[in-house]
Amino acid sequence: MHGHDPTQTAAANYREFAEDARGRSPAYEALAEAVAADPGVLRFLDSLPPEKRQPNLLFAAARYLGEPPDISALRALVSRRRADLEAVMLARRTQTNEPARCATLLPALAQLPPPLALIEVGASAGLTLLVDRYSYDYAGHRIAGLDPQAPVLHCAPSGPVPLPAQLPVITWRAGLDLSPLDVTSDDDVRWLSCLVWPGEGDRQERLAAAVAAARRDPPAVHRGDLLTGLPALAARTPADATLVVFHSAVLAYVTPRGRRQFAGTVRDLGAIWLSSEGPGVVPGLPVPAYQGAPFVLGLDGRTPLALADGHGQWLQWLDQAG
Ligand SMILES: C[S@@+](CC[C@H](N)C(=O)[O-])C[C@H]1O[C@@H](n2cnc3c(N)ncnc32)[C@H](O)[C@@H]1O
Repeated sequence: MHGHDPTQTAAANYREFAEDARGRSPAYEALAEAVAADPGVLRFLDSLPPEKRQPNLLFAAARYLGEPPDISALRALVSRRRADLEAVMLARRTQTNEPARCATLLPALAQLPPPLALIEVGASAGLTLLVDRYSYDYAGHRIAGLDPQAPVLHCAPSGPVPLPAQLPVITWRAGLDLSPLDVTSDDDVRWLSCLVWPGEGDRQERLAAAVAAARRDPPAVHRGDLLTGLPALAARTPADATLVVFHSAVLAYVTPRGRRQFAGTVRDLGAIWLSSEGPGVVPGLPVPAYQGAPFVLGLDGRTPLALADGHGQWLQWLDQAG
């Protein structure tokens, strides 16, 4: 999660975010630097609950209100439409849903005994639940998805990635989220699109194509907390399928104590647990050597399988995981 450390001042968080955005989104880099130096916008941020001061939330809210991501538009919003801006920031969450992350999950899922029943916690709109609808291209190794109109996800593999010949059979799937987004709601889809950073290549197009695919057969995403809602959902899964509980870019939003509690809950279910989170986020999962800011793909909270790009663009399988 970017720039949300509650122990730091808003200015420090926005400066840190600017560094994250460097080379990825020039517009957001410049905007975050400008906010860090703007007393008026910083005062507005300080009036919000700490978890609502994140750059991603502020910038997406401004765009949702029809403004471009620049500091003069933001200043004008804060002085003239403060109540509107505050309302969006209080009502909405940063819940970016990146379908391309499926490309980093697929090789691990395809190694499990089929058929699979999938539960995704922190599923947002459920686009990462649709692993078998998309097609894949791992540097020329292609796998056809069930929906020929769904996007092709490109992912650069390295190391001994167990690239599957075909997709796993998924007979049941459901998501759980504190605040599910509805792929059939234009408003929710607009929010999802505002969460994609400006200048990030083909992410907007991929999101639109994934939403169109999801609308043809929307995934069920239930409202609930991953700390409490999992056992009831797991009880609904078919007995003859391998139950997989997975999540990506979610546990950073949960306190360290909550993460330990969640780990205990998944283990009690006897489910396969696939995690894709920043290094050190999953309790007890060893952190492999890494550079940059990747995700670690973990099995059962014990075995790091791979390093993965946070947006699914590459997957580096670890040698020791075979
Ligand atoms: C950054 S999004 C990631 C969405 C999706 N997993 C992906 O990789 O594209 C994080 C999601 O986790 C959800 N979330 C955060 N804390 C949660 C909790 N305690 N219980 C359930 N969902 C939670 C948020 O509402 C949000 O939709």
